Amino acid sequence: MRYIGGKYRIRKQLIDYLLNYIQYTDCFVEPFVGSANITLSLFEDNPLFAPSKIIINDFHTDLAMMWQAILNGWEPPSIFTEEEYESLRNAESSALRGFVGHGCSFGGIWFSKFAKTKDGRNYCLNAKNSIMKVGELLKGIEEVEVYNLSYEQVPIPNGALIYNDPPYKDTCKPGAGNDFDHEKFWQWVRELSNKCQVFTSEYSAPEDFECVLEINVELDMNRAKRVERLFKYKGI
Ligand SMILES: C[S@@+](CC[C@H](N)C(=O)[O-])C[C@H]1O[C@@H](n2cnc3c(N)ncnc32)[C@H](O)[C@@H]1O
Repeated sequence: MRYIGGKYRIRKQLIDYLLNYIQYTDCFVEPFVGSANITLSLFEDNPLFAPSKIIINDFHTDLAMMWQAILNGWEPPSIFTEEEYESLRNAESSALRGFVGHGCSFGGIWFSKFAKTKDGRNYCLNAKNSIMKVGELLKGIEEVEVYNLSYEQVPIPNGALIYNDPPYKDTCKPGAGNDFDHEKFWQWVRELSNKCQVFTSEYSAPEDFECVLEINVELDMNRAKRVERLFKYKGI
């Protein structure tokens, strides 16, 4: 599903790196799951990846409701009209609103503008196929937990492998990240790194973090070049 700040385009490089650590854990956690690009790719590219527990979380209520509904067998629509889209813009939170607000919106930006079917591209169907695939893959996992919490409240077991993709500093904040406290976030990562393997995507990090992976990307909108980085805490 298209999602602002989503890691779809760099998922292969991220997964190639994370695979080095997957064998040492039985639990994978995405505290900032968004459209679940990384969870999806971990399964798609690695048929043998079978942790006994997956934890996904997002502070965005409608989005978390969508993931919970998918796990409970809900099927999103394949077609959606602009009128129906507008009727949900100010409606109360729901799984459908979580799906449509991102999946049927221009650029995957929360209720930015209805993404019309064009040149045979049905954005609604594409989004549906992508999230149904996540649902299918998660069905094979013994325990799947979905939370709608701020990252620091998510119960994370010792020894888990964690992939963080928080709202980036000095960028427009995707999903529910408008007043994100970056200092507090990095301190949480430091503490969590004592009991888990923690990897974080960002453009930059405090000095006590090392960059373990760099990926060159060209941004869609203005073709500017950026370097995506993956960080790990050095202090352990
Ligand atoms: C960069 S996006 C994640 C994109 C995801 N990796 C993907 O590929 O689709 C960041 C996510 O963090 C969520 N978020 C913002 N603040 C949060 C918080 N305090 N706790 C948990 N999630 C938060 C946003 O709602 C958004 O979905």
